[in-house]
Amino acid sequence: MEEFKGKVAFITGAASGIGLGIAKACGKAGMKVVIADLRRKAIDEALPYFNERGWPVHGIQLDVTDREAYERAADEAEAVFGKIHLLVNNAGVEVPRNPLWQSSYNDVDFIVNVNIKGVINGIKTIVPRMLKHGEPSHVVSTSSQSGLSVIPGFTLYCMTKAAVFGMMETLASDLKGTNVGASVFAPGPVKGNLGATSKEVRPESLKNSDADTQAAPPPAPAARAAAPMFDFDRLTMPAEEAGERVLRGVRRNDLYIFTHSEFKNGARAKAEAILRAFPDQPENEDFKKAFSFLTYNPIYDTQTTPGPLD
Ligand SMILES: NC(=O)c1ccc[n+]([C@@H]2O[C@H](COP(=O)([O-])OP(=O)(O)OC[C@H]3O[C@@H](n4cnc5c(N)ncnc54)[C@H](O)[C@@H]3O)[C@@H](O)[C@H]2O)c1
Repeated sequence: MEEFKGKVAFITGAASGIGLGIAKACGKAGMKVVIADLRRKAIDEALPYFNERGWPVHGIQLDVTDREAYERAADEAEAVFGKIHLLVNNAGVEVPRNPLWQSSYNDVDFIVNVNIKGVINGIKTIVPRMLKHGEPSHVVSTSSQSGLSVIPGFTLYCMTKAAVFGMMETLASDLKGTNVGASVFAPGPVKGNLGATSKEVRPESLKNSDADTQAAPPPAPAARAAAPMFDFDRLTMPAEEAGERVLRGVRRNDLYIFTHSEFKNGARAKAEAILRAFPDQPENEDFKKAFSFLTYNPIYDTQTTPGPLD
C-alpha cells in the first residue's frame, strides 16, 4: 500500500499513546481515520485534534475482545468512510510483573484476551473485507521488542507479543500474491499510558483477588530503579514519531517495523543462540527438498534494509 490520501485507517487502542500517534500520522497523510478504543471519554478527548485540522475522523467505542461488536464496528466504519484499507491492531494491555508460576489465571485470561485474541478478532473481521474490495491494503499489529528479546519477570506480556510476531509472519506469508500486505510493529520505549489504561480497562470479572495479590511476591526492583539516573522521558520516543515509522513501514511493505536500532544487539544474540543450538551434523539434501515448506519460508527474504530515516 503506497498511497494513503483518501484511504481509510481503522486503528484500535487509538485514543492514547502509540495508537493515537499512528492515528495522527494517518490523518497528516490525508487518510480518513477511525479511532477505535474501549474508553469513550478518551476517544472524545482525542477527536478535537483531528477536527481542528479538518482531518476526517470517526470515533467508535469498541472492545476488541468482543467479536460481534467488532463486526458492527467494521460495518460502522464502512458506512461512515467506505472501504477499510489500513487495519492497525494496536490495542494492548499489561499485567503485574510476576514469574509465570506466580501469575494469576485472571492475569493470563485478561492479557491473552486482549493482546492475542483481540488481534485475531481484528484480522478475522477486516482482512476478508480487504480481500473482497481488492484495493491495496495493509494490516499492522503492534507487538513489542519484548516479543523478540524477552524481559525477565514479564512472561505473560512477552509471550503475547511473541505470539503477534508468529501471527503476522504467517499472515504475511498467507497474503502473498494478494493486494494486502502485513507487518509486525515492534516498538521500543514510546510515550504511552499502558500501566494506567490497563488498570482502567480490566474487566471486573478478571480483577485479581486478594488471594492472587498475596500469592504474588513483592515486586522485583525495576531495572529503572537500579539504573543510574537517566532522563527516561527524554529517551522515550514521542508517539507521533512512532506513528510516522509505522506509515513508512506500510509504504515499504516491511515485514518488521522497528523504532530503535539499540535493540539490534538483543536480536542478534537471540538469532545467534538459535543457530548455535542446531545439532552439528550433515544435512540431508532429500530431506531439505521434501520438507522445504517446513525448513524455509521465503517471506523472510522480502525484508530489505529500511535505510536512513527521511
Ligand atoms: N509504549 C511503549 O513503550 C510500548 C512498547 C512496546 C509495545 N507497546 C504496545 O503498544 C500498544 C499501545 O501501547 P501504549 O503504550 O500506547 O498504551 P496506551 O495505554 O497509551 O494505549 C493503549 C490503548 O488501548 C486501549 N485498549 C485497551 N484494551 C482495549 C480493548 N479491549 N479494546 C479496545 N481498546 C483497548 C486503551 O483504552 C488505550 O487507549 C500496546 O499493544 C503495547 O503493548 C508499547
